[in-house]
Amino acid sequence: MAGIMTAKIDSREVGLVVGLKLLHFFLDTRDLHYGLWQNDLDVCVRNLPEAQRRYSDFLLSHIPDDVNRILDVGCGAGGIARELLERGYDVEGVSPSPLLTEEARQLAGDAFKIHQGCFEDVCFGVDEKFDLVMFSESFQYINLYKGLEYAQRLLNPGGFILISDFFKRNAAGRSAIGGGHEDEKFMALLQQSSLEVLKNKDITRETAPNFDLADQLDRELIFPTLRLAGYAFVQNHPWLAKVLRWKYRKKISKISKKYSGGERNAENFARFKVYRLLLLRSP
Ligand SMILES: C[S@@+](CC[C@H](N)C(=O)[O-])C[C@H]1O[C@@H](n2cnc3c(N)ncnc32)[C@H](O)[C@@H]1O
Repeated sequence: MAGIMTAKIDSREVGLVVGLKLLHFFLDTRDLHYGLWQNDLDVCVRNLPEAQRRYSDFLLSHIPDDVNRILDVGCGAGGIARELLERGYDVEGVSPSPLLTEEARQLAGDAFKIHQGCFEDVCFGVDEKFDLVMFSESFQYINLYKGLEYAQRLLNPGGFILISDFFKRNAAGRSAIGGGHEDEKFMALLQQSSLEVLKNKDITRETAPNFDLADQLDRELIFPTLRLAGYAFVQNHPWLAKVLRWKYRKKISKISKKYSGGERNAENFARFKVYRLLLLRSP
């Protein structure tokens, strides 16, 4: 806890933890990853925990039989690590976020060893080798030119890399949905590497509906709440509101566009992103 008090905290990290607390309170889930929306599942917020469980099952079903030691890079709140430990794997995690590390420790327990820091840094301090290095929706945060190489260094001969994440398509126009490495660049790097591609599954269709839920949340909850708070502030502090509105006009316009623009939806996700599950084998 002392570390938390002195370390500088990223606002995105606080956002992730707040999101996690809300999801836990309202939906009893501690997962920070998308849901996998298969055909039989209605896209509604009540079904999110089930869709997230299906994602975890789908991901873990791609772990090859002879794997025992796994490094879970960007282990979030520890939900997948806990599942892996329950299934008998020997698991260690990497987490750059002190707040999420705290959550993961509570959820996965003392058997879960977490290397604190960014993967690009901590991988040099990890002496052990693993049978599989996993990036579940964390690959997009890792330096594109270092991720695969650094993961390979930590693998036993013949070890695996499992990536589940989305990438940016080379599509015309500007996406309102951020994130993801450029798909073309990534696939070119993969081809140049010594890694063998065992599986490359496109699950864009099953993951895109998460953005219809995000769109609904933006329009029905986040935007009206921000607008109400803004209205109350303008009524109570008109002069200060005028100054702040002028000073932060660009930021305000960006936030308002983001949450009321209606562009963060499944259709645009599928247009601008491709979500891949990749199983790679090192020589
Ligand atoms: C969307 S969450 C996914 C969490 C978890 N893997 C899951 O599937 O539920 C992204 C995770 O990547 C982590 N992350 C961000 N940058 C990272 C980096 N440079 N090295 C390692 N992990 C990173 C975040 O702290 C967070 O735990």
